[in-house]
Amino acid sequence: KAIYVLNGPNLNLLGTREPDVYGRTTLSDIGDMTAARAQSHGYDVVFSQSNHEGELVEWIHEAREAAAGIIINAGAYTHTSIAIHDALRALSCPIVEVHLSNTFAREEFRHHSYISPVASGVIVGFGANSYLLAVDAVASLIEEAAI
Ligand code: DQA
Repeated sequence: KAIYVLNGPNLNLLGTREPDVYGRTTLSDIGDMTAARAQSHGYDVVFSQSNHEGELVEWIHEAREAAAGIIINAGAYTHTSIAIHDALRALSCPIVEVHLSNTFAREEFRHHSYISPVASGVIVGFGANSYLLAVDAVASLIEEAAI
């Protein structure tokens, strides 16, 4: 089984979108880095991005059967989506929520997450490195669950 890495709206613009906030690394670079780190733990990665809430929900449904663990950066849907919250709730594998920016150091509306209450843990504010930390975290949760 693979580690699913799901990315929400506007993350396709990484590299050029507000680089002072999100850095200059592109999503495709993050995909490559993430795949390499997952390989070092013995996992393949399914890496996807969508600007559509329903598509993210459908990928989470697919993950119920196909994923060993999930890493999700839901972008702005983090702060709005009960549909993504409910879909994640139906999963039994480990879930790591990730954000590039430190959402708690930003606007008030970014302080609340609908993902956090259904995540195993949260990694926030380390830029592109947040994804690598998330791979390490999800891999260790998968190993722990297998014992
Ligand atoms: C983000 C933080 C969200 O508040 C924002 O809407 C994003 C990116 C992050 O990775 O820092 O799109 O999830």
